[in-house]
Amino acid sequence: MATNYETHEYDVLVIGAGGAGLRAAIEASAAGVKVGLICKSLLGKAHTVMAEGGMAAAMGNVDDRDNWKVHFADTMRGGQYVNNWRMAELHAKEAPARVHELEAWGAVFDRTKDGKILQRNFGGHKYPRLAHVGDRTGLEMIRTLQDHGIHQGITVHMEYTVVALLKDGDRVAGAFGYDRERGRFRIFKAKAVVVCTGGLGRAYKITTNSWEGTGDGVSLAYHAGAELLDMEFIQFHPTGMVWPPSVQGLLITEAVRGEGGVLRNKDGKRFMFDDIPDNYKSQTSTDPEEGWRYTQGDKNAKRPPELLTRDHVARCIMREVKAGRGSPHGGVFLDICWIKEKIPNAAEHIKKKLPSMYHQFMQLANLDITKEPMEIGPTTHYAMGGIRVEGETQATNIPGLFAAGECAAGLHGANRLGGNSLSDLIVFGKRAGEFAAKFAKENSASQINDAQVEAAAREALAPFERGAKTGATADGPYQVQHELQEMMQKLVGIVRREDEMKQALDGLGKLYEREKQVAVYGHREYNPGWHTAIDLKHLLTISEAITRAALDRKESRGGHFREDFPDKDPAAAKYNSVISKGADGLMQLRREPIPPMREDLKQVIEEMK
Ligand code: FUM
Repeated sequence: MATNYETHEYDVLVIGAGGAGLRAAIEASAAGVKVGLICKSLLGKAHTVMAEGGMAAAMGNVDDRDNWKVHFADTMRGGQYVNNWRMAELHAKEAPARVHELEAWGAVFDRTKDGKILQRNFGGHKYPRLAHVGDRTGLEMIRTLQDHGIHQGITVHMEYTVVALLKDGDRVAGAFGYDRERGRFRIFKAKAVVVCTGGLGRAYKITTNSWEGTGDGVSLAYHAGAELLDMEFIQFHPTGMVWPPSVQGLLITEAVRGEGGVLRNKDGKRFMFDDIPDNYKSQTSTDPEEGWRYTQGDKNAKRPPELLTRDHVARCIMREVKAGRGSPHGGVFLDICWIKEKIPNAAEHIKKKLPSMYHQFMQLANLDITKEPMEIGPTTHYAMGGIRVEGETQATNIPGLFAAGECAAGLHGANRLGGNSLSDLIVFGKRAGEFAAKFAKENSASQINDAQVEAAAREALAPFERGAKTGATADGPYQVQHELQEMMQKLVGIVRREDEMKQALDGLGKLYEREKQVAVYGHREYNPGWHTAIDLKHLLTISEAITRAALDRKESRGGHFREDFPDKDPAAAKYNSVISKGADGLMQLRREPIPPMREDLKQVIEEMK
């Protein structure tokens, strides 16, 4: 009987405790409702910390020409106009207030000479816009939200994994999961649920995401009946570590380029000068001196091409590698030490501005970035696609279910600008918390359906039963996960082609069959094989969604590049890809027209051009 499981009851349940989850929980709690917060890992260990270089907010502290309109236009252009324009508007307008709120809650920032929050350059942002503290901004955000949240009476369930969302008729009724330490099941009954589970980078072999990033929330919401949006758009951050192999994919912050770092091929050439997209030509300099002056705050200088958008920079790097002009371990070089030609005490300056990068390379690669260039290559960093939400409230199509942060889609369109993630988390985390609390106040308690709970428990325990039956002969979850990651990296990666993606769909069919046979052994206490078996279902679901949406979009746009359709198709700028689960249990994809942009916002974009 389901009633045998320990049950926690909340008005609002938040799943995921990164920046969006913490901010949602704080807001809901401040609205006076009872809030529970589940994190898969320990509190404070979130992918949010991998947004190192800063949070984008048009505060105009370094360049007073900046304002919400410029930020809005930059975000839309970066997203190549398939963004949810209302979200882009809200984000640009509300980000400064959210940053100041963090400051009021105790967040530490680097400062301008006159004491304002310092803002730095990042790709695709017209003006220095990223509020930051060295290269540890995400960490500072989490620390601040955690400290603030702890005094709000939020109940935190650490090291819990949710295996299913529970429904009461059409509406959400809570979640079912287990504690990773003991493997005991728990029911979380709630009037409203906010999914803030972050990303899905673990579907790929090379990623900045750590083990938690298996797309749980996107998959849980999809299986509960929520729609997914624009799953084809995956961001490959241009600069991840390529060497040593044990740390391949680890993020090297874009702040290195924001501080003057340049990209070179094996011949020492700054190859980014070779390919500047038309829509960025007017803002991008072909003069290395001018680019340097830009990074040093010269308001009249144009940006260096290293600060073009991430999708473009990542593809230029791949082009160099493919042409045989790469570095010894299959990347290119990112050079910040060259600035010693320009400023005295360059080594001290680098260590001050990029302390984590300095330590990361010293400790992991035995390389001093103040003396030698880094070897870097693209790494799967972020999903622009995810759960479809309503822009103002973050509500999904399931009553009572909300989503915010990376697992929700819309704001970033086809490509996210660096730094827009941290501001996304606090702007839309707050909104999700507010509207989830409102929903909880306006609706009565939901009912838990015992049959749903029992079905979820049976499914979660099935790998143990198979283990008991088959002995050690069955596939283990790691093998299947590994093959999936290799396949997605190779066939649905930075450069995509129809024949390869069809091959991936075939491969996914086979991996689904194997996942159904995966066996685990031992007991339920801290059993990583079991945890991996449970994550596998999510990884397969989101990989299928990415592949189907990528096959359907027959053009190249942002994080989706098709070798067989290398250009943008103007007609494809008019729709989003929507995925839902059909009555037959199969994945359905449709194209849905993007609602026409409000006239005043169209004008903003025209003005900014
Ligand atoms: O490069 C970075 O620091 C990452 C920032 C982001 O993804 O927003």
